Order: sequence, then structure tokens, then C-alpha cells
Amino acid sequence: MRMETTFRAGLEGVVAAQTRLSSVDGDRGELLIGGFPVGELAPRARFEEVVHLLWHGDLPAEAELRELRRQLAGLRRVPPATLDLLRAAAAGRLPAMEALRMAVGSLSLATSGDAQGDAALLVAQVPVLVAAYARLLQGQEPVEPDPGLSHAASYLYLLTGRVPSPEAVRALETYLNTAADHGLNASTFSARVIVSTESDLVSAVTGAIGALKGPLHGGAPGPALDMVFEIGSRERAEPELRARLERGERLMGFGHRIYKVRDPRAEVLARTVAPLYGANGQGEVYELALHVERLAVRLLEEYKPGRGLQTNVEFYTALVLHGLDLSPALFTPTFAVARVAGWTAHCLEQLRSNRIFRPQSVYTGATDRRWVPLEER
Ligand SMILES: CC(C)(COP(=O)(O)OP(=O)(O)OC[C@H]1O[C@@H](n2cnc3c(N)ncnc32)[C@H](O)[C@@H]1OP(=O)(O)O)[C@@H](O)C(=O)NCCC(=O)NCCS
Repeated sequence: MRMETTFRAGLEGVVAAQTRLSSVDGDRGELLIGGFPVGELAPRARFEEVVHLLWHGDLPAEAELRELRRQLAGLRRVPPATLDLLRAAAAGRLPAMEALRMAVGSLSLATSGDAQGDAALLVAQVPVLVAAYARLLQGQEPVEPDPGLSHAASYLYLLTGRVPSPEAVRALETYLNTAADHGLNASTFSARVIVSTESDLVSAVTGAIGALKGPLHGGAPGPALDMVFEIGSRERAEPELRARLERGERLMGFGHRIYKVRDPRAEVLARTVAPLYGANGQGEVYELALHVERLAVRLLEEYKPGRGLQTNVEFYTALVLHGLDLSPALFTPTFAVARVAGWTAHCLEQLRSNRIFRPQSVYTGATDRRWVPLEER
């Protein structure tokens, strides 16, 4: 085979997989998940329906949905050794994503050994592990899972010990659905590479969590919310945003590598946020965030004309998750609760038509070195 010598940093523009799971069109601002525009699917579907769609290519019939719910609910018990690992992580005050990566790696203790069974185990366990760790960090014991609750309701229940309102569950499901899959992003690519060696799904999802944890991938919603709180009032918004831009800082929650128009996920979440803040008595935070958003988009066009810097998904993710009373430390782990659906679906898809990933590298080192004995160096 002829050696390909063109190097593309970050594999930008390189097509490395075929997928029927999701399609991202950055110029038109379109995201399809399993063939559905995100705005059509996310606000209506139960998260389990999206999981079924990604795994099997179609929305489930009623009996299939019931069966998937039963299966996931039956996999919520955490292996005792995994819980011990979380306790050790909490004692060391490890960040939640590190604890999650360690805990997911230990799910080999509970694996069924077949890929579809592991996909179910991983989707079921990620929210349980995140919630258990959040409680351990606060000095509280994990809550016993309630098998009668849906996947999203169970996550909120395991975090708080209280059965959530239908409105809160709907808002969380809309978020989880928007974030369930997004083309060949870094964590999804990592998962596909790992499973392409015919390694297992626990290894692939552990690697994907390692990739998601980096600030260039899953870390923006916390800082986006911090920015709104640091601004603090409408009067301070314009001078504060201008000062940041004049210092050359990036405004968190704005701009995207692929979307040069408004991120379609931001659009979906913007509609989800309003009722949440109507009900939780934090309307002022919401009003301020909207003001900051409008101003930021205007000032970004003034300071960076023609770059198409628009609100991205992270800005509204922060507002949805804050509206659900989740602390910023839980924002990236909650992204993993959603994206594990996509990771596992990509692994299953890769395995169905597998070829091991083995790209080339261009050698840029020396070529004519000669051995120098140790005593002469
Ligand atoms: C997401 C992001 C990394 C995409 O970056 P990218 O596609 O590589 O964009 P570029 O770095 O090419 O940026 C183009 C220009 O816009 C500027 N820019 C991009 N995003 C900006 C932001 N949020 N605030 C201020 N300026 C921004 C860049 O400084 C650059 O300016 P220049 O042309 O004068 O050098 C970037 O927009 C960003 O850092 N956003 C803030 C973090 C964030 O919200 N991340 C979550 C993404 S979902």
C-alpha cells in the first residue's frame, strides 16, 4: 500500500468512520440523531427510547421499551468492590470524572461478557456511580436504587433521595437526549479505536471517560455558569464582557469548531430552560443569563467580526443543570450519563463491521544516527 504522507493535525477533515447514529452539519446548524432532527426527538423522547434508537436503529415498540426499562433498572446495583473504590476516591477528594473513570473500569467485576449485555450494564451504571460518588463526597451514604423509576428519574432520585417532579425529569431527559451522540467527537472516536482491537466495551467506555474529562471536550458548562455568576448584575454585564474580550479571553459557552451558526442543541435546551426557572424561584439568574447571552453574541461579532461565534450547547447545558439543582462539579459527569448511550452504540456499530484502526504517522526525527558508547556520551 502507498504511504499517505499528508499530515492533518487533529485529523481535521479526515473521515475515519461510517455511522448511522448521528450526523452533524455545522454550516446548516443541523444535528440528526438516528435520523431525527434533534429538535424533533430530544424534547419528546424518553431517554430509554433514544438508547434503543441508537442501539437498534429504530424507536422501540411499547413492549420493547418496557423490557429495556426493566433491564436497565435490574442493573443498578453497584458491585461492592466498586463502591469501596468510590469510597477511597471520596476520601482522597478526587474530581468526579476521575472517580467515575476508576469505577467504570472496575465494572469488569459485573460484566456479562457479551457486547450488548455490557452496553446495558454501562448505560445503567454510569448515573448510579455518579450519584453515589456525589453523595459520598458530601459525607452521605448512596441511596438504594428504586427499580420502579425511569432512567432519568432514577438519576435525580439517587442524587437527592427524593422522587423528582415530572417537569424536572422531562428537562433532564431533553438534555440527556441532546447530548446522547454527536458524530465522531474525541471520546467517541477513542471508544471506537479501543473496541476495534476486539477489546471489550468496559475498556472502551473507560477510555472514553478519560477523553471526555479533558477541558477541551467536556469541561465548558461549569465555567460558562461561573461567568454569569461573576458578572452578577445586568449593569456589570457589558463592561465585564468587554474587559474579558479586551484581555483576549474566550467567553465560555460561545463558539464551536463545527457549528458556525447557532448550535441546534442550544436551541432545544433554550426552550427547556424557561419553565424550569419559572418554577424554582431563580428567575433572576435566568434573566441575567439571557441578557449575558444576547450581549455576548453582539460583542463577539464586534470584536471578532465574521467568525460566526454563536451560543453553543454548553451555555444552555449549564442553565438546565443548574436549574435542576446540580452542582457544577456534576456537569461533566452528567454529560457522561448521556454520552454513554452514544459510546456504547458506536462500539456495537464498530464491532458489526470491524477493521482495526491503524493510521500512519509521518516520521520527523533524525535518520542517520550512529551508536555512541555510554562512556563517550
Ligand atoms: C469551542 C472552541 C474551542 C472552537 O474553537 P475553534 O473552532 O478552534 O475556533 P478558533 O480558535 O479558530 O476561533 C476563531 C476566532 O474566534 C475567537 N474565538 C473563538 N471562540 C471564542 C470565544 N468563546 N470567545 C472569544 N473569542 C473566541 C478566537 O480567538 C479566534 O480569533 P482570531 O481569529 O482573532 O484568532 C472555541 O470557540 C472556544 O474556546 N469557545 C469557548 C469554550 C467553549 O464554550 N467550549 C465548548 C464548545 S461546545
